[in-house]
Amino acid sequence: MYGEHWGAMSGPEEEARRVYAETFGGHEPQLAVFAPGRVNLIGEHTDYNGGFVLPMALPLVTVIVGSPRKDGKICIVTTAEGADEPHKVEFETPSVDRPLTTGAPKWANYVKGVIQHYRAGPVPGFNAVIATSVPLGGGLSSSASLEVASYTFLQQLCEDDGDLVQKALTCQKAEHTFPGVPCGIMDQFISVMGREGHALLIDCRSLEVKPLPLTDPKLSVLITNSNVRHELTGSEYSTRKKQCEEAAKALGKETLRDASMEELEAQKDHLNDVCYRRARHVITEIERTSKAAKALENGDYRLFGKLMVESHNSLRDDYEVSCPELDELVSIAMEIAGVYGSRMTGGGFGGCTVTLLETSVAERTKEQIKDKFRGSPSFYITKPSTGSGVLSQ
Ligand code: GLA
Repeated sequence: MYGEHWGAMSGPEEEARRVYAETFGGHEPQLAVFAPGRVNLIGEHTDYNGGFVLPMALPLVTVIVGSPRKDGKICIVTTAEGADEPHKVEFETPSVDRPLTTGAPKWANYVKGVIQHYRAGPVPGFNAVIATSVPLGGGLSSSASLEVASYTFLQQLCEDDGDLVQKALTCQKAEHTFPGVPCGIMDQFISVMGREGHALLIDCRSLEVKPLPLTDPKLSVLITNSNVRHELTGSEYSTRKKQCEEAAKALGKETLRDASMEELEAQKDHLNDVCYRRARHVITEIERTSKAAKALENGDYRLFGKLMVESHNSLRDDYEVSCPELDELVSIAMEIAGVYGSRMTGGGFGGCTVTLLETSVAERTKEQIKDKFRGSPSFYITKPSTGSGVLSQ
């Protein structure tokens, strides 16, 4: 994992090139692409309910380097820390009567899913090496960055029509069908569309995007990785999604995006308590995200921070996807004057918090967290970065 001031993309790119030369007989790769991880500032568990999210792309990236080969075989190596064994896989390019299927190792399923669903084909054989600075399973979208990097790599091998929305949707479909996670669109979307110096307000129903500048040097975004991961993530995510669908159905709506708090209150007696609270989180979170976007536009960081803390409390109490470590990180950060707001970010049950603060108190906040937090955190002071693309040779 890289330190606070990681050297943009150079780390994983150098590593991928070195391992490529070692693995594939000293040759230079002909292609090199990257896709970023993300941090979500606010709008959690709203994307699969058609709501708003406000993420930004990170300078933490997954890089893929490689070259085509002529025998129809695909050979991929990963150098990612924490990826399951083996770190090298080899298989035939898919055909209509021989589609790719999931299997071990798990990390390769993200790539296979994208190859299988790629929108222009047939995909030729290739050799590739993957390296990443996005911590695996840390809630910063290591999976989406791998999918989007894979798609970007395939675009260099056999060009598609360049439709970026379809690119994000295809990567989401790969995640649904191969690793089998019923995720929303946020992570793949921001990894494709990220814009330097901007957070993106994404309407996950219409897929319209509004870029919001985030370049005030007096303001910083601090990511704190708790470095804990509770194993609940997979099953709990789909349970939450089903509970939201049940609540929407009871309210006679297609998604919770179309429901108001008044409508929810009116139906309270017809919903079980859990579904009621899940829906309350989603409806209020969508509202908070719209308000937060306006606050950012007005430079009202205090209001933005207050909404972040409300978001965290709602995720903890109503949605029940936080954990004691994340709660502790938020309350330690909030003790410091100059910290506007802090909350868990991503799916939950571990991973990271995101904190909005005055740049002048960033170091002090890190020190205080290191002193008081029961675990061993890592920090990233980060800036909004660009979406996926090609690395120049
Ligand atoms: C994960 C999913 C996203 C989103 C978040 C929660 O990161 O991949 O689609 O649902 O959780 O906001």
